[in-house]
Amino acid sequence: MADKDSSSGSNSQNLDQDSAVNPLSNFQNTLENIVQKFQGSNLNNQQHKFWETQPVGQFKDVGNSSLPEGPIEPPTPLSEVKQEPYNLPSLYEWTVCDMDSDEVCNEVYVLLTNNYVEDDDNLFRFNYSKEFLRWGLRPPGYFRSWHIGVRVKASKKLVAFITGIPVKLRVRDEVVRMAEVNFLCVHKKLRSKRLAPVMIKEVTRRIHLENIWQAAYTAGVLLPTPITTCQYWHRTLHPKKLIDVGFSRLGERMTMSRAIKLYRLPSSTATIGLRKMELRDVPAVTRLLRNYLSRFVVAPLFDDDEVEHWLLPQEDVVDSYVVESPDTHEITDFFSFYTLPSSILNNPNYSTLKAAYTFYNVSTATPLHQLIQDALIIAKQKDFDVYNALDIMENEPFLKELKFGRGDGQLYYYLYNYRLKDALQPSELGLVLL
Ligand SMILES: CC(C)(COP(=O)(O)OP(=O)(O)OC[C@H]1O[C@@H](n2cnc3c(N)ncnc32)[C@H](O)[C@@H]1OP(=O)(O)O)[C@@H](O)C(=O)NCCC(=O)NCCS
Repeated sequence: MADKDSSSGSNSQNLDQDSAVNPLSNFQNTLENIVQKFQGSNLNNQQHKFWETQPVGQFKDVGNSSLPEGPIEPPTPLSEVKQEPYNLPSLYEWTVCDMDSDEVCNEVYVLLTNNYVEDDDNLFRFNYSKEFLRWGLRPPGYFRSWHIGVRVKASKKLVAFITGIPVKLRVRDEVVRMAEVNFLCVHKKLRSKRLAPVMIKEVTRRIHLENIWQAAYTAGVLLPTPITTCQYWHRTLHPKKLIDVGFSRLGERMTMSRAIKLYRLPSSTATIGLRKMELRDVPAVTRLLRNYLSRFVVAPLFDDDEVEHWLLPQEDVVDSYVVESPDTHEITDFFSFYTLPSSILNNPNYSTLKAAYTFYNVSTATPLHQLIQDALIIAKQKDFDVYNALDIMENEPFLKELKFGRGDGQLYYYLYNYRLKDALQPSELGLVLL
């Protein structure tokens, strides 16, 4: 199971104390291993007809340290960027999806709710809310033209979607204007018709028109070539429901009552001075976050406006808490998580799995595991069923300490038109994509 997929629901998680504290087995999942396995099983076939034509790291170059780091292709003069959209099959037409419009936002919501990422067993499908989509797609400086839909000409039904948003991404010492490409979705009835490559080429063209030549994206599938391979981990908050819906199962030595006891949390948070983030906290949070993210090889560079957009709490979209020192009133730490439910498919008792996803966290005075334990307590109080986190940044130690269980499958991170000399460890990555 692919892990962006498994993050919409994982049935591999054993509710068993041992499985929750198993050390990470890094060896099996190193990029070179994965690529070698892949190459070994496909020696004579051309496997990526589309991606092999794109300026991305190719599998054949993995391990070739003579290739330079940085852009793979130089920018072309804007006048040479194709001015008209790519051709679609004749029954379809391009549309710009205006997320300000309730009607269009609802069309996008319906397309994704019925056709976006599922887990391998088809038990769960991501159910991004409309408010979430508006938040995720309209950060400061966003381009409406990068919210791209495909409609059936005759009926005007929306049948495919892809988006970009602008981001300043630092790769080592270079700050590069990039796009984050996300929400690629083709209606189930139109799959395997090579529509996805056209969508990707079209969003790329529109990104080029803004004089931006690089992009970051994630996928649950292995494409040429990830910059790193991460894992989702899941902290059970509502054991009984997770078992009932097939997200988790009881391990051999576990009973329901032991699981409930194992995952029980204190009724109140521990950190003195913890409170919801407010507008006045933006400059302090920006400083903390910029300082923290400077530790990673690849990370976004956020300014105040972006921190306000991405971190100021929004009901049922994003939650952020700061720690204000009672003595100095200085903001010393913060944590944040976003709300991304999944539809539970075909279960008679439940229709929605309420999942929180850890976003950006910074600790300077409070231990990180204590901050995240408080985040778990708040998430539990808000009736989330599960709290998810990737093993990126400095998350790994708290995952083990706080009884997260490892999900199955991987989430791969990619850069378009930018080569890294070597793949990164997940802990070298400071970027979260929605
Ligand atoms: C992902 C999705 C749009 C692909 O469409 P499709 O109809 O299955 O595939 P198409 O025939 O149009 O295109 C196949 C090409 O797209 C590539 N592709 C498939 N999924 C991709 C992804 N997530 N990101 C980038 N490229 C992808 C394939 O590798 C292939 O290119 P290749 O021959 O170079 O390998 C479609 O399966 C879908 O909507 N899935 C559910 C939502 C989802 O998983 N979205 C991606 C989230 S990361």
